[in-house]
Amino acid sequence: MSLTSYVTLGRSGLRVSPFTLGTMTFGEDHGWGSSPEESRDILAAYLDGGGNSVDTANIYTGGHSEVIVGDHLAANPGLRERIVLGTKFFWNLHPGDPNGGGPGRKAIIAQLEASLRRLRTDYVDIYWLHNFDPVTPVEETLRTLDDLVTAGKIRYVGFSDVPAWATAEAATIARFRGWSPIVALQLEYSLLERTGEGELIPMAQSLGMGVLPWGPLRSGFLSGKYGSDRAGRVDTTRDFAGMPTEEQYAVIDAVNELAAELGVAPASVALAWIQARPGVTSTLIGARRMAQLEANLAGLEVELDADQLAGLEAVSRPRLNFPAENNATFSRLAHNGGTTVDGRATPLAPLLAEGTRLW
Ligand SMILES: NC(=O)c1ccc[n+]([C@@H]2O[C@H](COP(=O)([O-])OP(=O)(O)OC[C@H]3O[C@@H](n4cnc5c(N)ncnc54)[C@H](OP(=O)(O)O)[C@@H]3O)[C@@H](O)[C@H]2O)c1
Repeated sequence: MSLTSYVTLGRSGLRVSPFTLGTMTFGEDHGWGSSPEESRDILAAYLDGGGNSVDTANIYTGGHSEVIVGDHLAANPGLRERIVLGTKFFWNLHPGDPNGGGPGRKAIIAQLEASLRRLRTDYVDIYWLHNFDPVTPVEETLRTLDDLVTAGKIRYVGFSDVPAWATAEAATIARFRGWSPIVALQLEYSLLERTGEGELIPMAQSLGMGVLPWGPLRSGFLSGKYGSDRAGRVDTTRDFAGMPTEEQYAVIDAVNELAAELGVAPASVALAWIQARPGVTSTLIGARRMAQLEANLAGLEVELDADQLAGLEAVSRPRLNFPAENNATFSRLAHNGGTTVDGRATPLAPLLAEGTRLW
């Protein structure tokens, strides 16, 4: 597989690379990202390799990420048309202004206009609702997004980090109103965060949404920098932004061992695993340094065999919320044999012996 192995995004005609370049670390607003020059080099290297999908957000480095991407587009005529450019709205960049963020009509339009100015373009390809707002009526958000599609300012609609029930409700309303569908979904997903397999991913598969996992290395935990045998290991029960927990080290160690066996970087193994997961369209890769980009892109060339996948499954299998596991067990008991018309086998379940009690 390569960056030019383009795939359709959900139930749409848009084609994207199997890895989308995340730009959350572009810019030095908080003192931890990459300089504009290094960011530009990372972006250019991804695009030169045939990558066509770039992800940013109004909030990333306080708008600096969008400015860096926009400057690169302006300096490279013709590039804008070739790439699939996604940005997001939600976070309020105007302290004290209650309508400065969120998914209300006034706020969405103002946020899009500001993003377009920073990105130096007159449209975005995927406009993402960045997070869940339980207050704004979803009809208001969807109708506004549909108007923006009609106005030619956005091409497609995506939802990020919204509960499955709310996304499914929104998708159903959009479908029956004839509004632009939600064709893409972002969620945190990695070998260390698999709970989206309970509701979000089956929903995306069922409703025609292409999945773009973010945090595929769990902010670097799966990059090879960590391991129970490595310097700097600290025992702790803290999760995220701290050090890995004992449970996480079991997964991290398995990734490190498999990478050593294959002679590739641990990041490549973690990315190859996620890109092979059912429902995943394009994994969001983050790279703060050029060397990180190179190691991450190498993940496209790694193909894990059934034994290797089973080994990773054994250490990372998630405990899903009810009723996911209950459904997986009992759905086998509904049909006994046969296939679907497109050839998906319905596993042949042993018939329950007469008198068997389930509870
Ligand atoms: N929709 C959302 O809510 C949401 C949320 C988060 C991110 N995103 C998107 O998803 C993209 C990726 O997310 P993420 O940044 O969380 O991904 P990630 O891959 O889990 O973490 C990326 C970080 O890991 C480290 N890293 C990456 N590759 C490495 C390598 N090969 N070797 C060693 N360290 C490596 C770098 O941090 P250090 O160098 O500092 O260790 C890098 O900043 C973002 O850029 C953004 O576009 C979306």
